[in-house]
Amino acid sequence: MSRAACYAGRMAFVEQLEAWKSERLAPILGAGRMSLADGAPGEATQLLQIALANEINVSELAAGWMPSTRELDVKLAFARQAGDEAGHFQLVADRLTALGFDVASFAQADNPLFQYLRGLTTTVERIAAGLFTLESIAYGVNENFMALCAQRGDDETVRIYRAYIQPDEQAHQQLGQRLLASYAITPELQLLARDTVGRLLEIAGTTRAAAAARLGTACFPGC
Ligand SMILES: [Fe+2]
Ligand SMILES: [Fe+2]
Repeated sequence: MSRAACYAGRMAFVEQLEAWKSERLAPILGAGRMSLADGAPGEATQLLQIALANEINVSELAAGWMPSTRELDVKLAFARQAGDEAGHFQLVADRLTALGFDVASFAQADNPLFQYLRGLTTTVERIAAGLFTLESIAYGVNENFMALCAQRGDDETVRIYRAYIQPDEQAHQQLGQRLLASYAITPELQLLARDTVGRLLEIAGTTRAAAAARLGTACFPGC
């Protein structure tokens, strides 16, 4: 097979996986929209603390993967992700401070989603889960959260997400697409990528449902 045909085949795989992921992501995003339509409860400071926890967890995850990832372009993608998520943490922390929350009292919490992610050891699994899927979840749920903030007249939070956070989350996801096309190059690796995407979305669905029950709303940011 020619190099061009080979690349076209890998891109076709990524497009199919993208469509498959969107289908499985739809119920998670639908739950958030339903809460939004129901006039979602939840204090902005409480919801932004969830974002804070997620940004620091993703930053640590990507930083933790960096030394044990051999492929240079993937290693650098994780480094960039770790830095960007640290920036998001700072933006959300500043917003919380402006809303009167003492960020010094914030306690980082773990959850089954990040426990699963930390256990992934291969490059294809890490790209499929950490960049390709986690970032799609983040982008989608953040859009719902921004709609909630807009509904409440919290334009400053919407602005921060629109101007800084969402463009980064989208770039991370697109980086995931390109890296999957480069590294998920055998039927076995493509199956591994697909299984990882499915498993992550399954765990995310459960984790978010549990958080929604605790918060009384499925419309909250992060992943
Ligand atoms: Fe982020
Ligand atoms: Fe991100």
